[in-house]
Amino acid sequence: MSKIDAIKKRHSVRNYKQEKIHKDRVDLIQEKILELNLDGNLNLQFIEDAGNTYNKLLNKMAGLGSAPSVIACVGPDDKTLEQRVGYYGEQLVLYAQEIGLNTCWAGTFNKKMIPAKVNADERLVITIAIGYGSDQGKPHKSKSMEQVIDVKGERPLWFNKGVEMVLLAPTAINQQKFLIRLNDDESVEFIDKGGFFSQVDLGIVRCHFEIGSGRTLPAIR
Ligand SMILES: Cc1cc2nc3c(=O)[nH]c(=O)nc-3n(C[C@H](O)[C@H](O)[C@H](O)COP(=O)(O)O)c2cc1C
Repeated sequence: MSKIDAIKKRHSVRNYKQEKIHKDRVDLIQEKILELNLDGNLNLQFIEDAGNTYNKLLNKMAGLGSAPSVIACVGPDDKTLEQRVGYYGEQLVLYAQEIGLNTCWAGTFNKKMIPAKVNADERLVITIAIGYGSDQGKPHKSKSMEQVIDVKGERPLWFNKGVEMVLLAPTAINQQKFLIRLNDDESVEFIDKGGFFSQVDLGIVRCHFEIGSGRTLPAIR
């Protein structure tokens, strides 16, 4: 499955089969996490038994309590942490989709119950529920391209392709509160319009834009 296919097939899944993730898949996820942690200076952790991570009423109502496993998104706490978590975490989400797993980013979870290791200089930002979905989720309602871009004049094809993939990205409460600006020198800026976990959203958006446009953007600063 290509990354574009993974983007098109991925939807948040909140109901999971009561089946543990098979060992070969766990090994693949662990390998990918190792790679992403090195690249992104993060401490993402796969936790096989989600335990009571999703025992909050909101999670139970959404169904997330059925997720067998969870990824704790942890990293050294600096001003880029949330964006890096979004950018590298979404690469993991898309990889999970490619190997037949389903996911849901979850900002609502029980911080006291999740068995994550958080070192002194680190922060646990968010979680990703993971497992075999009982369903595949469904496409979200989306803003139009015009609502999320700031471009003067003609739009190059690569830019349109990037934004097209961005519109399929998960965002907290489906808020899509960002703006993608194309400058005269063809550089691209991602502007945070605020909201719940909007910096994580922005990292996710950057990940989808790179895949869609086929361009590598400067590192997150
Ligand atoms: C940063 C972030 C936080 C999220 N937090 C939650 C959450 O706490 N509970 C939940 O059920 N879904 C959560 N979601 C999933 C969004 O509701 C979902 O991505 C959005 O509605 C779009 O749907 P889609 O992912 O199926 O495309 C979160 C998504 C993101 C990106």
